Amino acid sequence: AVEAKIAPSMLSSDFANLASEAERMLRSGADWLHMDIMDGLGTSQTSGLLWLLIMVASCKVKEIYSLLPVLSFLFRHFVPNLTIGAPVIESLRKHTNAYLDCHLMVTNPIDYVEPLGKAGASGFTFHVEASKENWKELVQAIKSKGMRAGVALKPATPVEEVYALVECENPVELVLVMTVEPGFGGQKFMQEMMDKVRALRKKFPSLNIEASSSLIIHLEIPSMLLLIGSFTAVDGGLGPSTIDAAASAGANCIVAGSSVFGAPEPAQVISLMRKSVEE
Ligand code: DX5
Ligand code: ZN
Repeated sequence: AVEAKIAPSMLSSDFANLASEAERMLRSGADWLHMDIMDGLGTSQTSGLLWLLIMVASCKVKEIYSLLPVLSFLFRHFVPNLTIGAPVIESLRKHTNAYLDCHLMVTNPIDYVEPLGKAGASGFTFHVEASKENWKELVQAIKSKGMRAGVALKPATPVEEVYALVECENPVELVLVMTVEPGFGGQKFMQEMMDKVRALRKKFPSLNIEASSSLIIHLEIPSMLLLIGSFTAVDGGLGPSTIDAAASAGANCIVAGSSVFGAPEPAQVISLMRKSVEE
């Protein structure tokens, strides 16, 4: 049997009652709590780009340098939404021992490793689009703080871009396939993304899919194969009507926000999703 991890996305919770919402999800059968950490709001990149082009067009060469701070302002946000950061994780940690699965939708993930490690985060999943050059250093730093390293990819990013992070000496331990555009809960599930999940499963066939992470160390088989077998996550638009597509493609870690929090009985949705993955 496959081991499922059902991770309600706390983005859909009542942030003003985070501790009791977390408790409610755990009582309802959640394995992990998915914490969406985002770094921005406002300026969308397209309108920002347009504005920048107009500025550049009306500039002399020397003046272009003065636009550099503007440039960094425009592109410092990974998503057009702002949620929580390390201080909130630290506060929540005082109320629960649960696995806090942090999903970093930020431009500079490396800056968050130390604070989140200190705050008590359990998993640290960064975006491959935000870590082009320094992913090795990043994975190393995450693990050295005692967190599980994961990599996420946006819908437009080809799955091949994460392969190197899985087939290296110090691999990530989870791949998170985004099934909506990152930034907001409640969007429509992108079924096409299941090709990425299938591709990951094919490229990294799990030798022992039921192996738990503690077993992996003792088996002395290349850890990446087992680890990818353990955690291929999907995030966005998951619920009773989309879970079977995700589960049959090979996803075993399910992040779901609105379908769980919006249900009269979250426990029913969680158990239904678990059954779909495990059977
Ligand atoms: C989107 C987040 C998701 C989101 C999922 O940026 O990464 O975790 O909250 O919410 P639903 O299940 O509502 O799509
Ligand atoms: Zn997420």
